[in-house]
Amino acid sequence: MNHIYYRYPKGLDSLKLEPFISKSRHAENSLLEGTCLGKEFLGWINHADIYLTNPEFKKILDAAKKIQENSEVLVVIGIGGSYLGARAGIEFVNPKNPKTEVIFAGNNLSNNQLYDQLEYVKDKDFSINVISKSGTTTEPAIAFRFFKKLIEEKYGKEEAAKRIYATTDAHKGALKNLAEKEGYETFIVPDDIGGRYSVLTAVGLLPMAVAGLNIKKIIEGANSSKSSLADIRNYAAFRHYQLNDGKSIEILANFDPSLHYMGEWWKQLFAESEGKDGKGIIPYTVDYSTDLHSFGQMAQDGPRVFFETFLCVDYDSNREGLTVPNDPENVDGLNYLTNKTIEYVNYSALSATIQAHENGGVPCSEIHISSRDEFCLGQLFYFFERACGISGNMLNVNPFNQPGVEEYKRNMFTLLGKPGYETTT
Ligand code: PA5
Repeated sequence: MNHIYYRYPKGLDSLKLEPFISKSRHAENSLLEGTCLGKEFLGWINHADIYLTNPEFKKILDAAKKIQENSEVLVVIGIGGSYLGARAGIEFVNPKNPKTEVIFAGNNLSNNQLYDQLEYVKDKDFSINVISKSGTTTEPAIAFRFFKKLIEEKYGKEEAAKRIYATTDAHKGALKNLAEKEGYETFIVPDDIGGRYSVLTAVGLLPMAVAGLNIKKIIEGANSSKSSLADIRNYAAFRHYQLNDGKSIEILANFDPSLHYMGEWWKQLFAESEGKDGKGIIPYTVDYSTDLHSFGQMAQDGPRVFFETFLCVDYDSNREGLTVPNDPENVDGLNYLTNKTIEYVNYSALSATIQAHENGGVPCSEIHISSRDEFCLGQLFYFFERACGISGNMLNVNPFNQPGVEEYKRNMFTLLGKPGYETTT
């Protein structure tokens, strides 16, 4: 059953779109045939198909169960592709009363946040999942030092080692070496899957499983995206049609705060994949209806340099559906909404916004998912990963590397006095 579909703006001239669709087919073929730029990082394309039978999948389920049994909190330490997917997934499904709370650390260099998180867990039972493919990224490495010290002081070195789970490269890196030396249970980021394409590996699945998500359904959803391949190509094609038409910014709009981190994950996926050689469609996200009261004016009336993609959840509640109560005095004049569900009101806001922005000259397309469950989550992750791979290839950039991220690191290391970086200017 197809739970995800893509819809173009009404009245789109399909003849004008056709060349971009054919380009997206061509780009997709180059991914499938392994002839594209970055061809050594294509493991994510068919990874989900076989992951359910991979022994690591069972290992994830076992570790998640153990963590749920012995920990009130799991501290997930990672940055970029090593945390955004898990966070997006957990907030998307938004499970009620999870056994173990998952918190995310090591994704910035804030003294205040780190201090507060250490204070938050110090009197609770907790475990750590430290995630870094390279094993050398500064932000998570620093945070891990602090949490490692805390957990060892709390439980002793031996018990602490049983509460630390490392997700990293199979063969190399400082984290891999440390995990081996200390005897941590390890999970693998496959060689041929880059950070931002790794959400459907242990990187995303272990934290999501601990939070209570059904990760088998996530994988099944990802696999089922294969029935939406035309929609994925069409989305990629539409982005390039818009770029060619002078729209260099894509805004991904959602109508529920639980989709905020899906937007953050999407933004990282497309920004790091496409922003190269002076090219790329700039990804920006908005959380409506909140942002209709800030960015909404710009969207309606500002420069026409962007197009909007609406992430629509057709049935959004995973909580009891609230209806607007009647007020006999009707002082606020809202009785016309009596007994209407909040979801109905929200969906009306979404439809009204699309119509208004289209009238204002913003091309608005829609990605529909049927509900906020694990199956749809897996579909959505795969939908965007594949669209991004296709779109990056249409730009003729390597969508699987991130050379630009190194520049700030070199400068920072020089300022911090890291050995070997003395001469960076
Ligand atoms: O997508 C990517 O490759 C990056 O965003 C990385 O995930 C991020 O920089 C973290 O890297 P690492 O997992 O090596 O610590």
